Amino acid sequence: MRVLLVGSGGREHALALGLASDPAVTTLIAAPGNPGIAAVAELRTVEATDPAAVAALAVETGSDLVVIGPEAPLVAGVADAVRAKGIPVFGPSAEAARLEGSKAFAKDVMTAAGVPTARAYTCADPESVARALDEFGPPYVVKNDGLAAGKGVVVTDDRARAEEHARECGRVVIEEYLDGPEVSLFVVTDGEAAVPLLPAQDFKRIGDGDTGPNTGGMGAYAPLPWAPPGLVDEVMRDVVHPTLAELRRRGAPFAGLLYVGLAMTAAGPRVIEFNARFGDPETQVVLALLETPLGGLLHAAATGTLAEHPPLRWRDGAAVTVVVASEGYPAAARTGDVITGADGPGIIHAGTARRADDGALLSAGGRVLCGTATGPDLATARDAAYELVRGIGLAGSQHRTDIAAAAIEGRIAIPG
Ligand code: AMP
Ligand code: GLY
Repeated sequence: MRVLLVGSGGREHALALGLASDPAVTTLIAAPGNPGIAAVAELRTVEATDPAAVAALAVETGSDLVVIGPEAPLVAGVADAVRAKGIPVFGPSAEAARLEGSKAFAKDVMTAAGVPTARAYTCADPESVARALDEFGPPYVVKNDGLAAGKGVVVTDDRARAEEHARECGRVVIEEYLDGPEVSLFVVTDGEAAVPLLPAQDFKRIGDGDTGPNTGGMGAYAPLPWAPPGLVDEVMRDVVHPTLAELRRRGAPFAGLLYVGLAMTAAGPRVIEFNARFGDPETQVVLALLETPLGGLLHAAATGTLAEHPPLRWRDGAAVTVVVASEGYPAAARTGDVITGADGPGIIHAGTARRADDGALLSAGGRVLCGTATGPDLATARDAAYELVRGIGLAGSQHRTDIAAAAIEGRIAIPG
């Protein structure tokens, strides 16, 4: 099987490692890829959000499967363009990707499907913003309606800041605050059959102890020792299957990766958000534990044959990933600094590039690298991930020091 992987971040490096280790994958091409992915795939340049360009590359490379990593190409209709060429693609249509592309659309689908989520209003003028903020009270949750790379959400007790964010965004979703630990559950689906992966936890804020602004994610671990035993079955029954059915009913079946972001509240799991693709950096830990060959699984979802796919097999133990971010991230990330110590196994490249003249490895994004490790238990995996991070040299870099710490110490509790 020849596979074309679209994207260039840490998630795509983790997907590339999974695909390259599948014996059924004979050739792996990544576009545009990154210096870490280059070790396991042939790199091609492409404008990832240009549907015609990606479809043409899929044809030219004779690909049997196209895997689309990030949300922007999905929302732009890249999966539709590839499918129109008759090539199986892992990733939803533009219409179904609105589940991530528009917070208002996602809320509408959840309401129609009876999915448990925060009560919310879509607001586009200062009066309706003020009414919604009054009704819910602090902490205020104000979300940009469109794509914002994980940074369009403000959660604050500061009323002026909440109003300012709403003004800057134009159209926002304002919702009630959900109190409880967060879970990321990834579901592989062909639109009808659906297979959950291991639940993981992400760390959204830049600072230790969940302080400072939201980021794309600063670290992750799996599995979750504190998750209630029936959690995945409950979410499949109450969230995933009703959502997939509602999208089929609307003529926009969702095939690809449904990312369910949940808050574990006193009243039960509540959906915080849907994404239309694998999460970053949770993919780094989830795929590190997946034993089932990844190419075959994604191909089954892309060809509507997931119901016949054998049950997934998982490695014992745990995985932890710690993100190393540039100075200034998330507000204004500095790039172009030389990186050292990023060659070993377990180092996932997220925002790196090669300098043209001497091939030196440079920082090229906000999240630069992820130290990813597995171990017989969370504590061992965590120590190994931090060992990798200590070996990385990048001037001014930042990382959280508390990834997976609360879980290991038994400090995570579901309210109520
Ligand atoms: P989202 O982009 O919707 O995932 O939001 C980013 C982050 O903001 C989430 O991971 C949560 O940490 C936080 N957040 C979003 N919505 C809520 C909510 N209703 N209640 C509490 N926190 C939220
Ligand atoms: N880590 C959060 C996301 O991928 O949206």
